Amino acid sequence: MKQVGVARSHESARAHVTGSAKYVDDLWPSLTGTVHLWPVTVPHAHAKILGLDSERALSSKGVLTVLTGADVPGINDVGPTRRDEPLFPSEVCFHGQAVAWVVAETEAEARSAAALVVVNVEPLPAILSIREALSAQSFHTATERIASGDVEAALARAELRLDGQLEINGQEHFYLETQAALAVLDESEGVFVHSSTQHPAETQEIVARVLGVPRHAVVVQCLRMGGAFGGKEVQANAWAALAALAAKKLRRPARVRLTRQQDLRLTGKRHPFLARFRVGFTRGGKLQALDIELFSDGGWCLDLSAPVLFRAMFHVDNCYAIEHLRVSGQVCRTHNVSHTAFRGFGGPQGMLVIEEVLDRVARTLQVPPHLLREGNFYRRGDCAHYGQEIRDADRIGRIWSELKASSQFGARWREIERYNAENRHDKRGLAITPVKFGISFTTAFFNQAGALVMLYRDGSVQVNHGGTEMGQGLHTKIAQIAADALGVTFDAIRIMPTRTDKVPNTSASAASASTDLNGAAVVSACNTLQRRLAAIAALHFQTAAENIQFDAGHVYPAGQPARAVAFAEIVDRAYLARVPLFSSGYYRTPNLHFDRAKGKGKPFHYYAYGAAVCEVGVSGFTGQYALRRVDILHDVGDSLSPLIDRGQVEGGFIQGVGWLTTEELVWSSDGALLTSGASTYKLPTLGECPPELRVALLARAAEPGVVFGSKAVGEPPLMLAISVREALRAAVAAFGPSGHVVELATPATPEAVFWAIEAARQKQGELRQSSAAQ
Ligand code: MTE
Ligand code: MOS
Repeated sequence: MKQVGVARSHESARAHVTGSAKYVDDLWPSLTGTVHLWPVTVPHAHAKILGLDSERALSSKGVLTVLTGADVPGINDVGPTRRDEPLFPSEVCFHGQAVAWVVAETEAEARSAAALVVVNVEPLPAILSIREALSAQSFHTATERIASGDVEAALARAELRLDGQLEINGQEHFYLETQAALAVLDESEGVFVHSSTQHPAETQEIVARVLGVPRHAVVVQCLRMGGAFGGKEVQANAWAALAALAAKKLRRPARVRLTRQQDLRLTGKRHPFLARFRVGFTRGGKLQALDIELFSDGGWCLDLSAPVLFRAMFHVDNCYAIEHLRVSGQVCRTHNVSHTAFRGFGGPQGMLVIEEVLDRVARTLQVPPHLLREGNFYRRGDCAHYGQEIRDADRIGRIWSELKASSQFGARWREIERYNAENRHDKRGLAITPVKFGISFTTAFFNQAGALVMLYRDGSVQVNHGGTEMGQGLHTKIAQIAADALGVTFDAIRIMPTRTDKVPNTSASAASASTDLNGAAVVSACNTLQRRLAAIAALHFQTAAENIQFDAGHVYPAGQPARAVAFAEIVDRAYLARVPLFSSGYYRTPNLHFDRAKGKGKPFHYYAYGAAVCEVGVSGFTGQYALRRVDILHDVGDSLSPLIDRGQVEGGFIQGVGWLTTEELVWSSDGALLTSGASTYKLPTLGECPPELRVALLARAAEPGVVFGSKAVGEPPLMLAISVREALRAAVAAFGPSGHVVELATPATPEAVFWAIEAARQKQGELRQSSAAQ
């Protein structure tokens, strides 16, 4: 039986729910001599460090050392792309930044001693928002541009024009497992680091850099992460480096684990954005020209802000053909935490802008937004503003019409119009929005992967690959892929913890591409092994190797399953015949290119598509709202693992709902994070879940050139949540006169919705007054 396409639970589902799954901080609980680190933090957003006095801390019970920049034998910098991220800073660059780390016998001792370290600082003025950065001209990057057509000329001759802006909120990852690392020295002075990292190879690189040792002296392992969502793509490295530094200095195992509050205060989040736009369109609702300026808040250091901004710029078209489109972008430098990768990686912010523009245009023209949207869809043969052909543009229309039909969109639209006409204080809103998300790292060299597959004489298999498991089900999919690629049962496969000494120089598990890349590398290794085994089986069955079938643990000549022998027997025969039973595999995505100076190329291997219909009910008294029903149709190609894919679609969608509705990051005027716990930062829970959440995967959707015809699924569904924001906006619009533009803050909390309703009512009132006066 084939494994690919079978609906399976996550390979660790039982362990997750019974508590037997291990995370970094659960590993080796009784490791003798383990020391613990605790940060010394400074409560200023920007300050010069004049001096550090550790004397009292050092004489306090259990304290072994206080780590500072002087302890770094290598380079005091953990920046992944630019060397602008000192591990021990000489200047405080965001509120609560760690400037030194106390190491003690117990965590409690380290913690109390950290309070005794005196840091003398001279506070400096701080830049705390995009607006402040703009007026101070404080940037991490120069302006980047992507353009097609002649935007200025097209705007000048457009029939109608609208200008506007949109502020987009950040979002906390809130992975369940906070950042953690455990470092152990080995007898040859090498360091072994258990790290909750999406990118073990980069963690290895940074640990080696800080220690000043070659990379071969560092091994990084990631068994699994308790969620990451992009927050451990580069921001796991510092903790690993600190643990390694302490282990090396004290020659004892060392542990770092952030408390929830430390994690919230020390790590970056989804980038807040400011977008300014000018759009030109026809009376018939065709978008002709669009000019977008994007500014993101990169925080204190660059981190991944440049590629995040680029992905936002690549996604401002979403599913729409706009002949004259120009987008520019710049990363602002502020004294905030360093914002980083977060599911969608800028794509959600880019897409939100165009959906905002479309809604404003639709309301201005007084046409239903869904008609305006579909009227502007890409058609086959169109190219995106960066020059890539939208080869399968038909799919947008197909998903759209299938979803409209299955959700009874038309009938419910009319029903809601009736409901809204009859109810003064309660309104409903219905919206449908599409998603097109480009799959591939836009940094081309990341689009490669390796695997190491090992057969044992009993026919059992260990699979090593470069991807990390963060709950997304990568290992489950890879096990299904390996089972079919070798022709064994699912249980014959064991996926090993991700380690830098099994597959070197791997890419981050990110950009949703881990199955595409690592899956293909595993297939290539399995093919090599199967070819070797086929030769052995061919001898046994006295037939040609091409005739040998491998089928769920049985091996037989094609058409003669009755003659089958066990896979294990063939493996053992191969061993005795001195055939190597392990193989590496490698994959790189073909035909990717992008010329940054010209802003043109083919940055993506393909696109993932989807659409969502959302219905909300809103109270005019309080602004409170509820999701009444959500219908999703999402394109995962031929699903490798339908249950895993459904989980990704549901989870991504709800995480997007959180971003756009409940999750509000609040900082004090001096830059301290006020929402530093789950009690003040409102995550979506079961209560926010619509009572009806109907998720379907697009049928007959095989993607050529991707492993088993599948498509990536990790990030794209997050952007389906834009339908929720648009449904809320439709409900708010129903409180006002037709033809008025609804400005809705992000996140659209009940409070924000309430104020938007008040604004709509005021416009209605003004309209009544002016018609009474006439
Ligand atoms: N799903 C779970 N359960 N936990 C996570 O941390 N991260 C998301 C997505 N789905 C995440 C998740 C992000 S940001 C990405 S890029 C992808 O998973 C990464 O995994 P993939 O490449 O295997 O899809
Ligand atoms: Mo995901 S934001 O690419 O880790």
